[in-house]
Amino acid sequence: MSEDSKYVEHCKGINGLDKVILREVRGCSAEIYLYGGQVTSWKNEHREELLFVSSKAIFKPPKAIRGGITICFPQFGSGALDRHGFARNRFWSIDNDPPPFPTNTTNKAFIDLILKQSEEDAKIWPHRYEFRLRITLGPGGDLMLTSRIRNTNTDGKSFTFTFAYHTHLYVTDISEVRVEGLETLDYLDNLKDRERFTEQGDAITFESEVDKIYLSTPTKIAILDHERKRTFVLRKDGLPDAVVWNPWDKKAKAMPDFGDDDYMHMLCVEAACVEKPITLKPGEEWKGRQELSVVPSSYCSGQLDPRRALSV
Ligand code: BG6
Repeated sequence: MSEDSKYVEHCKGINGLDKVILREVRGCSAEIYLYGGQVTSWKNEHREELLFVSSKAIFKPPKAIRGGITICFPQFGSGALDRHGFARNRFWSIDNDPPPFPTNTTNKAFIDLILKQSEEDAKIWPHRYEFRLRITLGPGGDLMLTSRIRNTNTDGKSFTFTFAYHTHLYVTDISEVRVEGLETLDYLDNLKDRERFTEQGDAITFESEVDKIYLSTPTKIAILDHERKRTFVLRKDGLPDAVVWNPWDKKAKAMPDFGDDDYMHMLCVEAACVEKPITLKPGEEWKGRQELSVVPSSYCSGQLDPRRALSV
């Protein structure tokens, strides 16, 4: 086995769709479907799944895969295009010769994907672009996604987009989950026509449907799974907003590709750029990064200021 194939395996997934598996020496892994450029699995060294994928997810175009990390581009949420844009239900390609990253990395488990304008998409979004997505599994099991989006229009036109890494985390029991780092921030409530509110009180907990876009959020957010005593740490760069979503029971039942009880075991926390869309002139490039890691919950106990605990 060559060094590369030890870390990066190309194979077929559900319904014969192309899939890439990233592996690290300690046994951590991640799986990526070229359909949607979507991470559908992220496991720690004990082979425990850390991402949620719906028990009824449909791995078949044109439906987007319900779960994992969905790429929302060039539109987050509702608007002129279908909800969350088209990147999530397009076939991405392997990018064999990506432009170099400014920082040199010794990581071996990574894959570069690319999405470009198709003739079909030009009719609904008349812009030429190169969307490069690098997905890396670090030696400690951290999962990093870096998006580089370049305007390659030849007609001199700028384009504008919104974006999210629609990340479905697997949680043991949603009623025992707490999110730290978003308290006291302003948010747009998707359940109230994006009206603006200010979050009150302590860390965020869950007892009903939630669909909020938190604005100007810190670069680190902690998601504590009390049952399992583990904490997801989401770090981000270039993505000021953070979406928090759980459909709860009624909406869960209304979604054909979502199990009735699935809502108990998932929470979406999504590094995003929604409130202030990004505009790129021809030749300009935007970069947005999300990094996920897991630490024991004792590491960032609720007694501590999460910003201090997370900076350890
Ligand atoms: C979330 C949005 O990111 O995605 C919600 O905030 C939306 O409003 C949810 O319902 C799921 O969207 P979809 O299109 O995948 O059903």
